[in-house]
Amino acid sequence: MVSAEFLQELPKCEHHLHLEGTLEPDLLFPLVKRNNITLPDDFPKSVEELNEKYKQFRDLQDFLDYYYTGTNVLIKEQDFFDLAWAYFQKAHKQGLVHAEVFYDPQSHTSRGISIETVTKGFQRACDKALIEFKITSKLIMCLLRHIEPEECLKTIEEATPFIKDGTISALGLDSAEKPFPPNLFVECYQKASSLNENLRLTAHAGEEGTAQYVSDALDLLQVTRIDHGINSQYDDELLDRLARDQILLTICPLSNVKLQVVQSVSELPLQKFLDRNVPFSLNSDDPAYFGGYILENYVQVSKDFPHWDHKTWGRIAKNAINGSWCENKRKNDLL
Ligand code: ADE
Ligand code: ZN
Repeated sequence: MVSAEFLQELPKCEHHLHLEGTLEPDLLFPLVKRNNITLPDDFPKSVEELNEKYKQFRDLQDFLDYYYTGTNVLIKEQDFFDLAWAYFQKAHKQGLVHAEVFYDPQSHTSRGISIETVTKGFQRACDKALIEFKITSKLIMCLLRHIEPEECLKTIEEATPFIKDGTISALGLDSAEKPFPPNLFVECYQKASSLNENLRLTAHAGEEGTAQYVSDALDLLQVTRIDHGINSQYDDELLDRLARDQILLTICPLSNVKLQVVQSVSELPLQKFLDRNVPFSLNSDDPAYFGGYILENYVQVSKDFPHWDHKTWGRIAKNAINGSWCENKRKNDLL
């Protein structure tokens, strides 16, 4: 098994990180105070109680209920900055060099907070991460799939200036997967793409949904990346396609265990993906909720795949760099 020091030193790229999912209990409670928030009566009352709750979730929806309650404590531009800056500081210590990070504007605009407030706070943290840590980053705006597609079109309209000027680099799709298949969002993806030809497209698919959700995201939404995608393992033709078109799967090992998608990281089809030349990266998803940032995910995978040598890990790190949406010059510097 490779050492934790080796994994720490590997230049790591993160492609699947929800900024709202980095809200640690020890920031959540101070924000409750700072912003005078009333939490639901049955919400845990202390950092310890909340950490206890985060030990296991029944499924994706059980987690999402806590996640959306957590987002309610974020009000001011400074709150969004503080949240993202805390993430960059932690990830920097773990050897992060490039991050493509999600955020969910609709979980804030639905509470009367403008998309400018959210986007500017997050972007300011990205700018600081570049200056202080040389970490490059991209913002990916996600649509919440439990929100009506017509509403999502309005969100795209609100985000238009940021899509046009490139502040938002990519569009994603998250939240409860199974009841809301990709075909519902075809118009949203078309509309967003029409605003900027450089806008990249991705979507959560094949986390709890079937391999068909992955194929549909590729065919109907025209995405060039798949978030999670682990259920692609059950469709041979799809695996060939992912390898042929070098579609990056952004895998989140600790998340998959915490949400009971698998019982252990060893069940993940990572060896199959390597053998079939399907590129993937390893990511933390919602680290405040799932018990680990990017390095803890790398370390857990190394324990569950102890036969992977330095060369294999080098290949994984390179696939993550090559699958990134940064400029070619940055890629070459990282390779
Ligand atoms: N939002 C935050 N984390 C998510 C995940 N793992 N799946 C779907 N939506 C999410
Ligand atoms: Zn996710």
